[in-house]
Amino acid sequence: MTESPTALTTAPPTTTGVRESCRSAESFVTSDKDALPPYDDACVPLTSYRRITNMTASDAERLFLKSRQRVKSYGEVFTPRPMVDQMLDLVSDDLEMGEEFVDKTFLEPAAGDGNFLVAILQRKLAAIEERFDPSIWSRESLFAIASVYAIELLEDNHRDAHDALLGEFVKFHESHGTRCGPRTDLFRAAAFIVRTNVVRGNTLTGRTPGGQEIEFSWWIRQPGDPEMTKREPFTLNSLRDPGAFDFTVYVSYEPCPIHHVHKKANADV
Ligand SMILES: C[S@@+](CC[C@H](N)C(=O)[O-])C[C@H]1O[C@@H](n2cnc3c(N)ncnc32)[C@H](O)[C@@H]1O
Repeated sequence: MTESPTALTTAPPTTTGVRESCRSAESFVTSDKDALPPYDDACVPLTSYRRITNMTASDAERLFLKSRQRVKSYGEVFTPRPMVDQMLDLVSDDLEMGEEFVDKTFLEPAAGDGNFLVAILQRKLAAIEERFDPSIWSRESLFAIASVYAIELLEDNHRDAHDALLGEFVKFHESHGTRCGPRTDLFRAAAFIVRTNVVRGNTLTGRTPGGQEIEFSWWIRQPGDPEMTKREPFTLNSLRDPGAFDFTVYVSYEPCPIHHVHKKANADV
């Protein structure tokens, strides 16, 4: 059965949980959606610590002013890792301890530069390493990254969040001597999943900068073959409806090995 994404604040993997997750998620994002400045104004550089490199004093001054403006307009304050970990400890069962922890989904509604995404993936991968045979690490790591979803409003933060999540995946495999360069299926499948799961848009309206519905995909394991997954698209806004998950409205995809999701044509074309 399909379970709902756990947000940063809630654990219950039920349909009700989705709606509660969405509601509590909204406390993390800008509260007045009409007050948000237009996307184009938002694309000013350099507030994430990941992007802070050598800079001149005048650049630093400009950065400070931009940052102040972004804190005011978008609530752009990043959570320190110890606090991220304390929050994740509250959902440790879903994240790393319980049965089927790999597939328990998490939705970050205001991703920033990816602090929570990286921590979630790191902790899932550590649990995979501890509990599973190395022969299935690559498959399980793909299902793990497929369980992490995010939305971010600002273009630069969105790019950083995407890169940070994918970078964490690559780091895990390279630290174990597994090839995960840009030409490998392992990398390509992970990059495809991250592109699909980490979306630029407005969590409050459920829309992308172009005005389309924010669409996610569920990566459903196929019974009888642990390598196989089936991609089922749904919209963010459908999670707020009583029925939840408007799977049937969208194109469907044939099941395929998770290492090959980037190659899979959609079944309806
Ligand atoms: C307070 S930061 C938090 C970042 C990250 N969650 C963390 O704790 O490190 C808020 C982020 O939410 C984004 N944001 C604000 N309003 C949003 C909205 N309506 N939809 C999506 N993202 C939003 C901002 O651009 C910013 O990157």
